[in-house]
Amino acid sequence: MFVVFFYFNRYFFLLESAEDFTGDGIVVSELDRLRASCLYEISNCDSLRRLDMLKNVLFGKSGKITEMMKKLPTLKDEQKRTLGAEINALKNEVTQKINAKFEELEMKELDKKLASEFIDVSMPPRPCNFGKIHPITKVEEEISDIFSSYGFKFADGPDIENEYFNFTVMNMPDHHPARTMHDTFYVHRLADENGRKLLRTHTSTVQMHAMRAYTPPFRFFSFGRVYRSDYDATHTPMFNQIEGIIVDEGVGFAHLKWLMSDFLKKFFEAKDLRIRFRPSFFPFTEPSAEIDVAYEIRGGKMMLGTGNNWLEVVGCGVIHPNVLEHGKTDRSKYQGIAFGFGVERLTSLKYGIPDLRGYFESGERWINAFGFSHSAK
Ligand code: PHE
Repeated sequence: MFVVFFYFNRYFFLLESAEDFTGDGIVVSELDRLRASCLYEISNCDSLRRLDMLKNVLFGKSGKITEMMKKLPTLKDEQKRTLGAEINALKNEVTQKINAKFEELEMKELDKKLASEFIDVSMPPRPCNFGKIHPITKVEEEISDIFSSYGFKFADGPDIENEYFNFTVMNMPDHHPARTMHDTFYVHRLADENGRKLLRTHTSTVQMHAMRAYTPPFRFFSFGRVYRSDYDATHTPMFNQIEGIIVDEGVGFAHLKWLMSDFLKKFFEAKDLRIRFRPSFFPFTEPSAEIDVAYEIRGGKMMLGTGNNWLEVVGCGVIHPNVLEHGKTDRSKYQGIAFGFGVERLTSLKYGIPDLRGYFESGERWINAFGFSHSAK
């Protein structure tokens, strides 16, 4: 209260003298002084609380302007008319200034409040039991961590490709018998100079996009959906592949063999993982191999690394010189190695998920059984 009094005692002084309006000239000049000091104080007022007090000092029950108004009826007619008009004008002006200041300070306070209560909507939600992470998402994260640690960068390509990118540049010219190895979904109506449009049958198409976009040496990996007209417990019409490619001077099969073995051991967290390399054929690699992982089924679950069943999980090889050429890569200087994983198969082996079809059926019981909680990293 002391502070308030101290702050406003200037008004009391000014207003005391303004009360004494018996002589015309003095009164008008006192009113002018009062007006000036009111306006000065209003414009310098920096808080709603102070403005409220100022308003009270002027317009409260025994406020200075209120008191003046009260005294008006006691004045003579002539004075009443001139002074009445003056005081009224002062009252209106000061009221309007105070109201405007109120608005201004309220806005400022609101801004301050908004700034202090800022909600960052881009923050991730608190981990809670809200849904589960799909095993494919989990495995993709695990795989990208491993390939990033080898210095691979991510590359991407479209799901809808054309015959040229899916086959021709991958060393499968028109009418090549290998085209029938992939049961392709074609979009016949959309044929152009690059052939028919189709849903890519493998992510190897990304090899070509990467080769054409970057100059060697480079190493890339890519995830994505691929499509083949096939459906049983170990085949689904849509599945996910991870593709990897290294183009550099002097890379060869030995690097590929080490890389694949090291990756699979890291991914399955098993130093003595049983795998085998099998000679194979892919038109875009020469030599080519497939890698199988040993498993057995126990209690309806796929158990990894034991037993005499083998599941093929990787196709790989040394990039065919024709493919390097299509990729505008100097084949006399650079060599390449490439590999493609079936993500669902890797996931099934690691997490014991027996039937591939469950991955795509969006069943609640399935995701509750095989999904991962958000907090489990
Ligand atoms: N694209 C092959 C497939 O889908 C896998 C592969 C990738 C083979 C890269 C060799 C090199 O089966």
